Amino acid sequence: MNPRVVLLSRGPELYSTRRLATEAEKVGWLVDIIDPLALTIVVDEDGGRVFHKGWPVECEAVLPRIGYSITRRGVAIVRQFEQSGVIVLNSSQGILRSRDKLVACQMMAEARVPVPITAHVGAWEDTDRAVRRVGGAPCVVKSTEGTHGSGVFLVNSAQQARQLVFQMLERGMRPLVQEYVKESHGSDIRALVVGGEVVASMRRKAHGSEFRSNFHLGGSVSNVELSAEQREIAIRSTETMGLEVAGVDMLESDRGPLVLEVNSSPGLEGIEGATKKNVAEKVATRMNKLYEGVIVDSSEVEETRGSNESQSERAF
Ligand SMILES: Nc1ncnc2c1ncn2[C@@H]1O[C@H](COP(=O)(O)OP(=O)(O)O)[C@@H](O)[C@H]1O
Ligand SMILES: [Mg+2]
Repeated sequence: MNPRVVLLSRGPELYSTRRLATEAEKVGWLVDIIDPLALTIVVDEDGGRVFHKGWPVECEAVLPRIGYSITRRGVAIVRQFEQSGVIVLNSSQGILRSRDKLVACQMMAEARVPVPITAHVGAWEDTDRAVRRVGGAPCVVKSTEGTHGSGVFLVNSAQQARQLVFQMLERGMRPLVQEYVKESHGSDIRALVVGGEVVASMRRKAHGSEFRSNFHLGGSVSNVELSAEQREIAIRSTETMGLEVAGVDMLESDRGPLVLEVNSSPGLEGIEGATKKNVAEKVATRMNKLYEGVIVDSSEVEETRGSNESQSERAF
């Protein structure tokens, strides 16, 4: 019987979702695309289960594509699947860590992955000191949470930094003051890591006078070969975050590559287009490999998981 994978995605029509579904089907998976917000978790003395329209969701693997706005709810679903022994690409912990730029930065620094000098400012009065510590203005002020470049600002003076930090703190956001890596000139490198290997890499260039190179802000993309050092750093940062699939963003600084962030739901459109590499297929074959590891003893699997038929009664 073919194994089942649940693709947790709010957008079945999105490029990345479609590509992942297609390639997973090609290598033998039955694919269900389910909106994570349509799922219910019931926790009981046996651990708990995930339900869709009243039916328990049975699957051997889960591919989470959890949007930023639903991180908490999405991660709770992934955690529930994890607890029942389902293969997850990526884990709930990995997703959470990578979504918080401060946590990610702290963990990478501890693992000796090079990162830009970053200060988390708890009181706006500390902004001037933070700006000096990261090398002075211009510097970058960003929120610990955010994506597609929103919440990331290049400021030209400590005064501007103070204002932004003040506003962010007032809104309950956690501001970071970061060294501006000017030599990377609105360009950065995105490495796609799957199963501990770099499977594609591209250079992203910011549009016009923009300093943020995000694809969603109109940045252009092109294929690039990584140096051995960049490759090693991309793999190590992914491992540090505990991710199976990741998009690692690196800036090229005078002192070598610096990791800006590690994305746990990297978009596939830009990178597949720029590199002509089949990234979705790599994810699907990685899932197969992990699944082979799980079915070493298939009789045991049958016992613990039961068949779909025996689970089919409505639970609530
Ligand atoms: N410290 C920095 N120095 C130079 N450029 C930066 C810096 N921080 C961010 N950028 C630019 O802004 C973009 C978005 O920043 P990032 O921290 O990745 O936020 P997001 O999660 O919103 O993508 C980066 O891809 C990069 O081009
Ligand atoms: Mg980014």
